[in-house]
Order: sequence, then C-alpha cells, then structure tokens
Amino acid sequence: MVDKRDLVSVFDYETAARDKLPKTAYDYYRSGANDEITLHENHAAYERIQLRPRVLVDISKPDISTTVLGEKVKMPIFVAPTAFHRMADPDGEVATARAAGQAGAVMIFSTLSNSSFEEVMPEATGPMWFQLYVYKDREATLSLVQRAESYGCKAIALTVDAQVWGRRERDIKNRFRLPKGLSIKNLMPAGREQFPEKKGESGLAAYVAWQFDPTLNWKDVDWLCAKSKIPVLLKGVLHPADARMAIDHGAAGVIVSNHGARQLDTVPATIDALPPIVEAVDGKIEVHIDGGIRRGTDVFKAIALGAKAVAVGRPIIWGLAVNGQDGAKHVLDLLRKDFELTMKLCGCQKIEDISDDMIFHRS
Ligand code: GLV
Repeated sequence: MVDKRDLVSVFDYETAARDKLPKTAYDYYRSGANDEITLHENHAAYERIQLRPRVLVDISKPDISTTVLGEKVKMPIFVAPTAFHRMADPDGEVATARAAGQAGAVMIFSTLSNSSFEEVMPEATGPMWFQLYVYKDREATLSLVQRAESYGCKAIALTVDAQVWGRRERDIKNRFRLPKGLSIKNLMPAGREQFPEKKGESGLAAYVAWQFDPTLNWKDVDWLCAKSKIPVLLKGVLHPADARMAIDHGAAGVIVSNHGARQLDTVPATIDALPPIVEAVDGKIEVHIDGGIRRGTDVFKAIALGAKAVAVGRPIIWGLAVNGQDGAKHVLDLLRKDFELTMKLCGCQKIEDISDDMIFHRS
C-alpha cells in the first residue's frame, strides 16, 4: 500500500494504479489506439503552451465556481465518462459518483458502466450527466435517455466518434473480457449486457461491432434532440465545421474530445483542436474539452483558450484503483487545488478573469 502522503499528483496515482491493477484492466484503461501518438500528444501539447501571468492582484480568495448550461457548478473540472469502473474498485461507479459529489465535480456517467442508474443515482450528491452510445436497437437507446432523465441527469453527452471501435492493440493481445460477474449493467433490461462469445479478439470491440449503430448521422442528432427533455452535447467533435453543424442541429454544446486517444490515432491533441472550434461556434453554444488534463495549469489553459469546463478520465480511474472512493476524491482535490494555485499565480480571482491574453503566443 502506497503512503497517501506520497501521492501528490495524478502521475503518482497512475504509477500506484499500475502496480495494483490486473494487467488486462490496466492495459484497457491506459491504452490508446494503434501507435498511441495522440495518446502522448494529448498531454504533451499542454506542456508546449506557456502561461503569461498578471501580477499585483488580490488573490486571497479565488472563486472557481462557474456556470454550465445555465446552472452554477462548484468548479469547471468534471469526471469524464469512462467505462467499467468495477474493474478498478468493487463499488465502481457508485464510488465515483460519491467522490464526484464530495469533490464538487459534475460526473458524466457512461453507457458502458458496470453499475446501473438504480445503484448510482441515489448515491450522487452532485450533478450528473449521462454519456450515450447509440445502439442499433433504438428502443434500448431511448430507454437509456428516458432513465437518465427520470433519475435527474442534467444533460446527455452523445458520443459521436465511435460508430466503429478504434484499434487498441493491448486489448487485442489480452483478448480483453470483463471479469466474471461484471456486465454493462444499464443494458440488462434490453438483454444487451454481455460481450458476445467471439474468440480471439477484444470482447469490447466485438460488442461494439454487434450493438452500436454504424449509420449514426446528423438525422439521429435531430431525433435525439427532439426526444430528449434535457440538453444534448456532442462529444467527440474535432472539426470546426462539425461544431457549426452541431449548432444547426440543436445541440447545447460540443465536447472537444478524441475519446482519450482511443479511436483514430494521429488526430490532434484536443487542446490544439480547441481554438478553431471556439472561434467557429462564436459563443452560440458551450464548448467543453477532455483529453490529457493532468495538472491545474492544463485546466487553466483550456479555459483560457475558450473551454467552459474540462473533463478528466483516466486520472479518476487511477484514484479509484488505488483507494476507491477516497482515491477518486483525492485525485479531484489534487486537480482542484492545483487549479486554484494556478489561478492565484496568474492573478485571477474568478473564472471570468482567465483569458486568452494569459497564454503566451510566441511572435
Ligand atoms: C469506452 O468508451 C472506451 O473507449 O473503451
């Protein structure tokens, strides 16, 4: 067991999680697509961006609360949707939801979770969103949306970059399967909670090919926006033209995401893709981001470049794996404190003070 005092960054958590998790689970969470070029880039791109702080501002009481989709939230750091939390901790998504609530983070609950709405939602003390994959079975898809609404989720994050699955070589080599006893719990009522019996492949890739709808297109966005009683954001947008189309098709926002670099390798880091998208939407809808955020300075840079909020994925899993609910909460606390420190050192009292002007652009 690692001494908590030695866990002072997200990177420490990843090292400790790697030592603790079974190899198949660690590889599943950690891996990116193909050569993992984008996986590396997602964080490396933040390292290349430099800050240009202001001085002589009273920063004794920074306020990191902000507004998202018209509602006040405690901080602009969210829990990104990630799958299969019970491979990391026996309480899985229940522990994550409790941790998010305690830490003041919005949690985006994944379709591919090992815990059901019924288990998770009563434990959630903070705002919850639901991440949706569109199944070939539209009834099953709609029922997920309706359950999300009835359990009080505040928004749907529709994943638009995964009609087909990226090639994750570690999962192929490991013949990735869910450990015995785990399933895609919310799909149980639809009888779609287990991977198919297909030998020699990633079981998840086989499940996606079997269940997810490869025809997903803009008409389906229209359909979902019409059916959903809560706002729909499109997650997985990298092209400004798609961001503009999202406005025309009724989305409340876009999440600039490359799916944690797990889908198409060699796409840009999300922080590099962000500015043209912010410019394209021109304030008409919200722009959020995930991918590669490991430091408070990364959160600050994303906000300075126009993101309303950022979401963190793998770090939460590392926290869960190392110390369950407390570990996930500690990871969120570390990020929050690091972000608060960055705000102070940049001379910002509140989120609105963070501006593009504090990014150092080499002339
Ligand atoms: C799940 O969304 C995954 O990318 O594995």
